[in-house]
Amino acid sequence: MKLMLLGLSGAGKGTQAKKISQDYNLPHIATGDIFRILIEEGTPLGQRAEKYIEKGKLVPDKDAIKIVKEELSKIDIFSGFVLDGFPRTLYQANVLTELLNDLNTELDIVLYIKVDPEELIDRIAGRRVCLNCGASYHIEYNSPKREGICDLCGKELIQRNDDQEETIRYRIEVHARMIDELIIYYQNKGILRTITGKSIEDIYNNIKMTIEVER
Ligand code: AP5
Ligand code: MG
Repeated sequence: MKLMLLGLSGAGKGTQAKKISQDYNLPHIATGDIFRILIEEGTPLGQRAEKYIEKGKLVPDKDAIKIVKEELSKIDIFSGFVLDGFPRTLYQANVLTELLNDLNTELDIVLYIKVDPEELIDRIAGRRVCLNCGASYHIEYNSPKREGICDLCGKELIQRNDDQEETIRYRIEVHARMIDELIIYYQNKGILRTITGKSIEDIYNNIKMTIEVER
């Protein structure tokens, strides 16, 4: 399955993508996670991206496209993947469609995780992430077994630099402006599936049911 997760900042894309990736054995490609690794490594692209990310702004399309192309070139696209955080703009969506079209393939499902915007600030403020494997936790709603340590890989958990209250609000605003046109774009292609639910498990069960219907 070639899947894409769509949702506002804090909607749970990373949380759900990790579960899908493990259960269905699909590579998880998360542009935000890759940018954070590049920032940590201090690469030129990482340094360029950091200036945008720390302000909650979108990284220029060409940089996001470059890293996704690189990641897709490392995997067998036909065996499937889970995209998380890409495409973020209509331009990126068109580039992805063309890229897959050139290979005679396309996305199978876009899972749009719909969440009440009121919940997002609280979720992001309490988030802790693992830079090593990209796993996402919450100090209250999804705490790791050992405080500050990733359940999956045992590395230390951190708070993201862009998870400060003012940046969060700005990021949600930026994201909200772009998401509607992506929803329409994928609705028109007939592959958008809206996922609702309360708890992480609830939402995941709805995702699984949706995937099973389409498989
Ligand atoms: P990115 O890392 O993708 O950030 P984002 O889109 O703002 O989304 P988040 O990662 O904040 O949220 P999420 O939906 O993954 O939620 P999570 O599962 O962690 O991008 C960061 C930056 O990189 C962007 O701002 C931009 O600058 C740049 N960038 C990335 N991609 C780009 C692109 N394509 N183009 C241009 N720029 C790009 O969950 C959030 C929290 O809630 C966690 O604590 C989790 O435990 C908790 N939680 C999850 N589900 C539930 C639930 N059901 N109930 C309670 N708590 C929950
Ligand atoms: Mg994420």
